[in-house]
Amino acid sequence: MFIVEMKKYILQLNKLKERSNYRVLPDKKSEGLIDLSSNDYLGINHNSTLHQKFFLSFCQESHFGSGSSRLLGANLNLHSKLESFIAESYNAEGAIFFNSGYHANIGVLSSIPDNKDLIIADKLIHASVIDGARLSRADFVRYKHLDYDHLEQLLIIKRGYYDKVFIVSETVFSMDGDVADIKRLVELREKYGCFLYLDEAHAVGVRGINGLGCAEEYNSIQDVDFIVGTFGKALASVGAYVVCKHIFKEYLINFSRSFIYTTALPPINMAWSLFIFEYMQTMKDEREKLKNMSIWFGTMLNTGSKNHIIPFIVGSSEKALNLSKHLFSNGYNVLPVRHPTVPKGLARLRFSLNAGINCNQLLYIYQLLNEYYS
Ligand SMILES: Cc1ncc(COP(=O)(O)O)c(C=O)c1O
Repeated sequence: MFIVEMKKYILQLNKLKERSNYRVLPDKKSEGLIDLSSNDYLGINHNSTLHQKFFLSFCQESHFGSGSSRLLGANLNLHSKLESFIAESYNAEGAIFFNSGYHANIGVLSSIPDNKDLIIADKLIHASVIDGARLSRADFVRYKHLDYDHLEQLLIIKRGYYDKVFIVSETVFSMDGDVADIKRLVELREKYGCFLYLDEAHAVGVRGINGLGCAEEYNSIQDVDFIVGTFGKALASVGAYVVCKHIFKEYLINFSRSFIYTTALPPINMAWSLFIFEYMQTMKDEREKLKNMSIWFGTMLNTGSKNHIIPFIVGSSEKALNLSKHLFSNGYNVLPVRHPTVPKGLARLRFSLNAGINCNQLLYIYQLLNEYYS
């Protein structure tokens, strides 16, 4: 009986292998390569001067682990400081810190929308939003990627049947690098009386004059009900925040299971997040460099994206794996992205540019691609 049950798992894994969709954790061999797979968009992970500055300013805490959840005694002064500073930066009523973007998305979407509500999200929304919507008692539908006419059609048909409707979108999309039309989303929010929820995971640090994301860039912060920013990407830390009204913060503290039932992040991490959230707002030169480099490289590759995430779609998972291996052997770490992270047949290399690289390094990769396909 036991062996029969195990067979099911073996078969499923074998199927993945046959389709080149089997995943293994990459080993450390990528060290020393030019990394175009990481989300360290501002190059903070390799900025040792900044790290030293932090350690000099870090007033030593007495312990490394936090020991419990925030509600059971691990609510540090640092948490409150960070949340107040984030809220102040956005000129918003409140901000609440979660242990990761995944925790934030499942935590908000599973608790705030209830069984009389509807969540409408972009078709290419991140898995954490989908999981949050699945955990929620609200109904869940998706509109075609960036197709706001489709979103409006759904609102016309469905709005009247629900108490509250939550429109959810990423701003810079994680796998395609394209950007939501914030103005149109705000218009639809107002026209149909909805809440607007924006996941800015790939925009924080990179977009907006102070790096607060696309809502800042399009002068729309005050028109968005929930802004999710993550610390694990451009900010080179871990954790996430939700900028929202004070009442929602209070509600999340009381009802959001991924906020309540988890151990708080350690003090040193909170201190780094606070330090880096302040510092990144000054990194205007890095943002400018990244923007110019993205336009230049995006134009050369001609894939449609001129943002810091540039998908190079090759088709099958096998092709993506092979191309990734080729670039790897030439000094570049560009990992393949395959089904189910992206739709079948749209496997790709996802170039994540960062402010620490230079145009010559990108020019060389362009030549490698040309040679590979000639
Ligand atoms: C759009 C988006 N939202 C949320 C997350 C989750 O964030 P975290 O890695 O902090 O859990 C990610 C990244 O994985 C993401 O790309």
